[in-house]
Amino acid sequence: MSLDLADIQGLIHHFYGYPKTRHLLIEIGNPAVGMSLLKFLASRVTSAADSLNPLPESVLNVGITYRGLEALGVNAQFLKRFPQEFRDEPDQVTMGDFGASDPANWWNGRFQTQQVHLVVHLYGQSLEALDKTTAEIREMANGNQELLPTESGGVIEGGWLGDTPGELHFGYHDGISQPTVRWDDGPLQPGEVDYRRFILGYATREISSSPLKFASDPSSSLAEELGRNGTYSVFRWLYQDVARFNQFLESEGPKAFPELSSKDAQELLAAKLMGRWRDGTPLIMSPTTPNQALSSRNDFDYADDLDGRKCPFSAHIRVTNPRNQKLDDASTDPSGAPRVIRRGAPYGPKLTGTVDDQVDRGLVGMFFCASIVRQFYKQAIWMKENNFSPVFPNQHSQDPLANRLTPDASNQFLIPTATGDRTVTLQDFVTTKGTAFFLLPGVQTLHRLADGQFQ
Ligand code: HEM
Repeated sequence: MSLDLADIQGLIHHFYGYPKTRHLLIEIGNPAVGMSLLKFLASRVTSAADSLNPLPESVLNVGITYRGLEALGVNAQFLKRFPQEFRDEPDQVTMGDFGASDPANWWNGRFQTQQVHLVVHLYGQSLEALDKTTAEIREMANGNQELLPTESGGVIEGGWLGDTPGELHFGYHDGISQPTVRWDDGPLQPGEVDYRRFILGYATREISSSPLKFASDPSSSLAEELGRNGTYSVFRWLYQDVARFNQFLESEGPKAFPELSSKDAQELLAAKLMGRWRDGTPLIMSPTTPNQALSSRNDFDYADDLDGRKCPFSAHIRVTNPRNQKLDDASTDPSGAPRVIRRGAPYGPKLTGTVDDQVDRGLVGMFFCASIVRQFYKQAIWMKENNFSPVFPNQHSQDPLANRLTPDASNQFLIPTATGDRTVTLQDFVTTKGTAFFLLPGVQTLHRLADGQFQ
């Protein structure tokens, strides 16, 4: 079987090459006005089958939270079939959102996470293109309330930091590694991931899906349809403290690698934290220097780095995708390491140097999966406490981008080298500013929701 790409939102299936993005958050006023807005959005939504050649001025995709489904008047019989973690608020402990990242501080305190019902992800060639579509949506939004989370009461928007996609604050390059999804039922080739890890509604004995149909409950069949061809999206709004990160590299780099010049030591420390040099070159392929020719490579694993001398065990990409590294049995899903499809873009202006300008900047990250618990939460747990593989000498080290306030977590980042272990003391570089769980429904489901068919 091949999936009907016309029924799957484009953002799930591919990365849009747009320089500008905006995320409109909306609280639904009542089912009638919610459905009327959704009708408009469903008529404009971009599917995975839509041609992007030539590239339209802008495209849009739509997500709905559990509270949003409630606000649309979806029948409780169907709602109860959604997994508990989607029905609940994002879990602070699981994600390690403590201190400044505490959910009480999210959205700059301007509204509660429960108020977030809809998100419209806009991508455009220019701000004008985004403004045009935003104005149309706002006109249709009558009776619903737009939630404006930035400090100055604006929308979350971002885009490329430079002339091409990929550069992030902290100077790293993103957009290289994604799961290679097998979008049909053909035999999985090595390295491919079944579409059921991301697309709902096609449960098998091995890969479950939720909402799920139960023979004993006829209404569950419609609940399954509500999910079919959708995905769960974890939306994370993350502040990055660039000045602090650069100060850390400046002071700790030369201490960790006194044999190098200060500049080279800082670059090497940055690479050790990520597992890739800042241009994207994987440390596994080129452990001592970045190499532009290797900067987009993703065909590597950790089999010949069992001592972590090329890539530290706690490096961000080794934690979030340990590839073929041995995992502890207890933490292993039969399918292996959890994978998520990642979309996102930086927001806020670029900052170089070590002086903070007090301007907000960071990353809007979206993580798509068929199970928030088995995929996204699992990665988050692994990030905040590296205890999932025998390679970790103690079980409390952390991903450098995790929050240091997790109880029992260690701020010591171990860098094994041929001449002995080096250790640096991590700081908090990233603060969570908001999180919401959306269902990015199938295109037909959006239309049906707009027609009140699930009430
Ligand atoms: C501000 C916070 C973050 C920054 C700056 C960041 C940055 C990066 C960068 C530069 C890469 C390497 C690019 C690539 O391989 O394509 C990467 C990879 C990745 N990140 Fe993050 N990330 C952040 C937060 C997160 C979070 C919260 C998660 C999920 C829990 C996550 C999951 C991943 C995954 C799964 C990969 C791919 C690893 C691989 O396949 O090798 N990241 N990230």
